[in-house]
Amino acid sequence: MAPKTPEQSKTTMTDLVLPSETNPLNNLFGGELLARMDRAASIAARRHSRRIVVTASVNHVAFNRAVPLGSVVTVEAKVSRAFKTSMEVFLDVWIEDRESGVRTKANEAIYTFVAVDETGRPVAIPEITPESELEKARYDAALRRKQLSLVLAGKMKAHDATELKALFE
Ligand SMILES: CC(C)(COP(=O)(O)OP(=O)(O)OC[C@H]1O[C@@H](n2cnc3c(N)ncnc32)[C@H](O)[C@@H]1OP(=O)(O)O)[C@@H](O)C(=O)NCCC(=O)NCCS
Repeated sequence: MAPKTPEQSKTTMTDLVLPSETNPLNNLFGGELLARMDRAASIAARRHSRRIVVTASVNHVAFNRAVPLGSVVTVEAKVSRAFKTSMEVFLDVWIEDRESGVRTKANEAIYTFVAVDETGRPVAIPEITPESELEKARYDAALRRKQLSLVLAGKMKAHDATELKALFE
């Protein structure tokens, strides 16, 4: 399988915030944003692997800014690193100012997807070659995040998490 770039998986979804999607403060409900991010991330993972993909883990979500009713919200997803069968997908969420059109970063998140066959068994995926400085930084940190996610899920012993140990040495 030929390696791919993060740009090849880039997925951009732009949509409005409607009244039914808000909390009592008239801001976007967190679960609605999670669903939008999951959809964009799964498309990015599918574009990278060209396989059926399932969400294995939501590794990180930061709701740094409220997203008001009526906002135009853009969710951008890209595969940041591909492992054997799993992929890390990095999401950036932007709000667009109505008058100037200037985009402001509102939130970000990191999801892990696994490519599977028709029976749900994990299958190998192409490698990824990061290009920009940001893509390279996200690629470099992804193994650490994978190990942390596996330790938290009880699927890896802490003393096997080489990248995490290296942080404290
Ligand atoms: C995700 C799933 C396919 C993993 O199956 P599994 O039997 O644990 O398979 P493996 O142990 O071989 O793991 C497969 C890959 O996922 C990775 N992985 C599994 N759990 C992970 C986690 N919590 N965090 C990060 N990576 C994880 C493994 O490290 C492995 O990666 P690699 O092959 O790239 O090295 C399986 O748990 C599943 O089907 N879960 C349900 C998915 C789903 O329905 N999602 C929607 C929720 S509503």
